[in-house]
Amino acid sequence: PLVSMRELLDHAAANGYGIPAFNVNNLEQVQAVMEAAKEVDAPVILQASAGARKYAGEPFVKHLIQAALEAYPSIPLVMHQDHGQSPDVCQGAINLGFSSVMMDGSLEADGKTIASYDYNVDVTRKVVDLAHKVGVTVEGELGCLGSLETMKGDKEDGHGTEATMTREQLLTDPEQAADFVKKTQLDALAIAIGTSHGAYKFSRKPTGDILAIDRIKEIHRRIPNTHLVMHGSSSVPQDLLAIINQYGGKMKETYGVPVEEIQEAIKYGVRKINIDTDIRLAMTGAVRKFLAENPDKFDMREWMKPAREAAKKICKQRYIEFGCEGQG
Ligand code: G3H
Ligand code: 13P
Ligand code: NA
Ligand code: ZN
Repeated sequence: PLVSMRELLDHAAANGYGIPAFNVNNLEQVQAVMEAAKEVDAPVILQASAGARKYAGEPFVKHLIQAALEAYPSIPLVMHQDHGQSPDVCQGAINLGFSSVMMDGSLEADGKTIASYDYNVDVTRKVVDLAHKVGVTVEGELGCLGSLETMKGDKEDGHGTEATMTREQLLTDPEQAADFVKKTQLDALAIAIGTSHGAYKFSRKPTGDILAIDRIKEIHRRIPNTHLVMHGSSSVPQDLLAIINQYGGKMKETYGVPVEEIQEAIKYGVRKINIDTDIRLAMTGAVRKFLAENPDKFDMREWMKPAREAAKKICKQRYIEFGCEGQG
């Protein structure tokens, strides 16, 4: 059934686990997540970005998720809008039937300009007002996602700002987080700790100076009852990069967020972990491999099938690693 995000996150907090929130854009990704959840009995957060809504079109996004509900009626499922850039966008998602929305007020509505704190409070508060009236959960974001190696935002992937930032802008401040939660009354807070979207997060396996898990502990100490959200949480597995490059891909050396760091974060209030890139890498590797090995094939179902399998495998792995097994 369609459930509220708040309900899922409260349960995760009470039972000490985290829930991966997977970005979906098409049929095969939705099927992969649902099948993985079914196999391990996990709850599901399917999230759609503005890019997903543009790619598939709103009716298709809506009905793909409706189809998932119909095909898997016993799995608790949240339909979440990822990175809403304005209260209007969030209202649109609610009208479309989303049970949870993210108001990303860390940037202004252009998605580029770093927003003032007051702007962020204002737009997030507005969305909480309109969403809570109809039982919809709200995620906000405080602090700008970006790299503590380059001090740059994650514009490379088409998201966020390319501005050079200070360490303080790139790390959520615990005191400000407490004030933000109090003023907005949001349900979940996305924090900045040095992760960024896409495949190119770190030039080496991250250590505490560039992936600030300690900052999560400080934030959690200050606001122990707020559900925390980690964006840019793909682990960018080296074996997936290797498959892509073995079959004609040209991805540069790069590192993601190690699963053991996420597991540590889950001990300190992180309940929602956003993952998109790992699914992309898994599917791309599988398609490259299949087509390289079967150059005579042209039925897309034949190459989409291994891609869907690869996506399912990574989703299932994350469900187990984050402690979701049996929580569905
Ligand atoms: O927010 C980031 C997700 O990876 C969505 O990416 O905007 O390319 O759909 P997208
Ligand atoms: P990744 O690019 O690390 O998968 O992050 C996805 C994300 O944060 C979506 O909001
Ligand atoms: Na989100
Ligand atoms: Zn994100």
